[in-house]
Amino acid sequence: MSETVTIVFLTPAGERLEVPARSGESVMEAAIQNNVDGIEAECGGACMCATCHVYAGEAAVAALPPRSEDEEDLLESAAAEVRDESRLSCQLTVTPALAGAVFGLPDRQV
Ligand code: FES
Repeated sequence: MSETVTIVFLTPAGERLEVPARSGESVMEAAIQNNVDGIEAECGGACMCATCHVYAGEAAVAALPPRSEDEEDLLESAAAEVRDESRLSCQLTVTPALAGAVFGLPDRQV
């Protein structure tokens, strides 16, 4: 059975949305399943749309592998400001190390 951890999405207004995420699924899937506003995921996780853009908090950055080249390229087309901690949440696999990790939601997606 996969382990469930709680991850946190931070809205641009500063609201913390705590959602359950199963290890093995993507951070984007956890957001969609929990109706997190601001993650559109138009391409369904195929690394083609950049509407699953999030800002990874410090703990998340430490627990995640670096961006792939595809992720890097696609982030350039993200609607919101791209920062060092920008990630495509469909490319981030939930692991127990992400328990309590915070992901900021960009001000506006496409
Ligand atoms: S859901 Fe489309 S790039 Fe992540």
